[in-house]
Amino acid sequence: MNSKLNITPVTGSLGAIVEGLDLKKLDGETVTTIQQCLDRFLVIKIPDQQLDRFQLSALGRKFGKHFHHPLVHNGCDDCPEVLELLKKPQDTKVFGGESWHADITWLKPAGYLSFLHGIDIPEVGGDTSFSSTISAFEKLSSNLQNLLSKLNAIHAYHWSEGKQIEPWVVEHPVVRAHPTTGKKGLYINRMFTTRFSDMTIAESNPLLEYLFNQMEKHDVTCRFKWNKGDLLIWDNRFTLHYPINDTPGITRKMIRTSIMETT
Ligand code: SIN
Repeated sequence: MNSKLNITPVTGSLGAIVEGLDLKKLDGETVTTIQQCLDRFLVIKIPDQQLDRFQLSALGRKFGKHFHHPLVHNGCDDCPEVLELLKKPQDTKVFGGESWHADITWLKPAGYLSFLHGIDIPEVGGDTSFSSTISAFEKLSSNLQNLLSKLNAIHAYHWSEGKQIEPWVVEHPVVRAHPTTGKKGLYINRMFTTRFSDMTIAESNPLLEYLFNQMEKHDVTCRFKWNKGDLLIWDNRFTLHYPINDTPGITRKMIRTSIMETT
């Protein structure tokens, strides 16, 4: 790995701050470094970047095909793959709800990486928390791990702006292996997973709730405070995230792009 980098792990489970990169220079070494850091830490913060939406889009494109949200169109017409996530002082909600989730698990292929860049950041508040679904899986008993490895789950996107919509519904294995490290993680989340396949919601809920709680424990999570110019990149296949809505009356503006899996 690039020897000029300064990499500081955030917790024992996941997360690192990676200093020494200039993301306006998209050479092969930079892309490989980011990929290696993500494989190891699952979510990374790269401080001191000042990217516009076109530069953020170009960075994402190095890792795969962009996601175009079918319903949310708060980007710009000339760069629709980059969404603006704006919380105005009068807003009571934040984009991404106040719920642990991974992005775009309701499609197949599903979401891979998300890139979130801080443009207008409050002095305090609006942090983002992350969970390692690998650490959560590794803490389960081997019997439960074996049982879960045989199950699939239903993921659905069935609401938008508080309104019920015709849902997108897909099925994914509950446990998936990281293609590089081979480590296994849980692939379910509170926002989009509705039940296990071939089981009812009532049958699924107790075990799902247990697993969600395991994935939200302090010992498998980390939390990032934002500064203007920070870029967070996370792997939606092996992490959950939670936008913290703790500061009414603030302005917080981010830009985000997401990349899809290929299979
Ligand atoms: C998201 O859920 O993608 C947004 C996270 C954040 O704004 O902190």
